[in-house]
Amino acid sequence: MDAIDVIRAKRDGGELTPGQIDWAVAAYTRGEIAEEQMSALAMAILLNGMSRPEVSRWTQAMIGSGDRMDWSALDRPTTDKHSTGGVGDKITLPLAPVVAACGAAVPQLSGRGLGHTGGTLDKLESIPGWRASLSTTEMLDVLKTTGAVVCAAGSGLAPADRKLYALRDVTGTVESIPLIASSIMSKKIAEGTGALVLDVKVGSGAFMKTPRDARELAETMVGIGTDHGVRTVALLTAMDRPLGNAVGNAVEVAESIEVLSGGGPPDVVDLTIALAREMLAAAGLDGKDPADVLQDGSAMDVWRRMISAQGGDPHAPLPVARESYELTAPSAGVVTRLDAFGVGVAAWRLGAGRARKEDPVSFGAGIICHANPGDKVAEGAPLLSLYADDVSRFPRALEALEGAIEIVDEGVPDLDPLILDRVS
Ligand code: URA
Repeated sequence: MDAIDVIRAKRDGGELTPGQIDWAVAAYTRGEIAEEQMSALAMAILLNGMSRPEVSRWTQAMIGSGDRMDWSALDRPTTDKHSTGGVGDKITLPLAPVVAACGAAVPQLSGRGLGHTGGTLDKLESIPGWRASLSTTEMLDVLKTTGAVVCAAGSGLAPADRKLYALRDVTGTVESIPLIASSIMSKKIAEGTGALVLDVKVGSGAFMKTPRDARELAETMVGIGTDHGVRTVALLTAMDRPLGNAVGNAVEVAESIEVLSGGGPPDVVDLTIALAREMLAAAGLDGKDPADVLQDGSAMDVWRRMISAQGGDPHAPLPVARESYELTAPSAGVVTRLDAFGVGVAAWRLGAGRARKEDPVSFGAGIICHANPGDKVAEGAPLLSLYADDVSRFPRALEALEGAIEIVDEGVPDLDPLILDRVS
């Protein structure tokens, strides 16, 4: 087979054959297709799209480039959640223990933050001693003893995606729905989960800015999951404002612990319960109600065992940033907008996120929002507390917040509902 024929076929709007797809993905992973050729093919896919059979086969080829995990040794069904990423999205932290406390096993391979969206592993690493890297045997042990494990993916999982994602990142080809969908789904299917719930974020702080694009991504991913025998459902959820009040690493762990203690911000609680119900239904479990395990302490029990099993101390104090700055309301009124993207970029510039893959993050850096859209505030009332290890970080973070908060004399915010749609 010849790379140029495959590129030409997609460039001219044709449908790639299963043989062409299998060959292109395998040959690229082995280094037999040049980076410039794969970059031309990725651009042709971005411009001309892929049919459902093509994108399913492309995903299958990416899964086949590495290992597929197997949890058949467990005595309970597996179910997982993937979020397309947002600001203040700490949902995995309360969700995994809730679902485990309701009787399912959650084998979650997670990622680190890049850009203005946070990463679950960065948040968990703010817990003293907690370790993200586990072998498959250790994962199985944690799953057997606690019911939930959240850790980093090993290098053997979908290596084709690892290579292709790095190439897309530098060739303007990240924003292709079939390439995003196959990238996410190849890792989730290789992770070996039996059921999967996708939390597709929509709004300024998300990858997908419009419900139309989010729905297309959700439908593509649900189609891929279904074609691979994984029961897959997607919720489209709001990311026009941050989720909860805390944005950062340790501050989001603290907020998740509030939720596991039966409190916490209503949107975080509601989304945790909605996603947990979907995960349990997809796994065929309908015994316990997620809302109950948050109140009776059993989800908190799983959390503590799950953190300890990975070397963390669930009772240790969380890191706190050295410096803080309070942003106050310039006038009295109603908050009608708190823009997720502005808050996400500000938290990133405070040190909660990284500019390059290899940079460290500051565990204590971040933002606490004291007022949310719909809240009335007095002149001078605190709106946001900013935390950083170094005062030099505040000016650029404040720049990102210019125009991100709107306060009017009287009014009602034009907010998306928390859950916009469901795709199955
Ligand atoms: N996340 C992924 O894992 N892959 C993409 O292509 C985009 C987001």
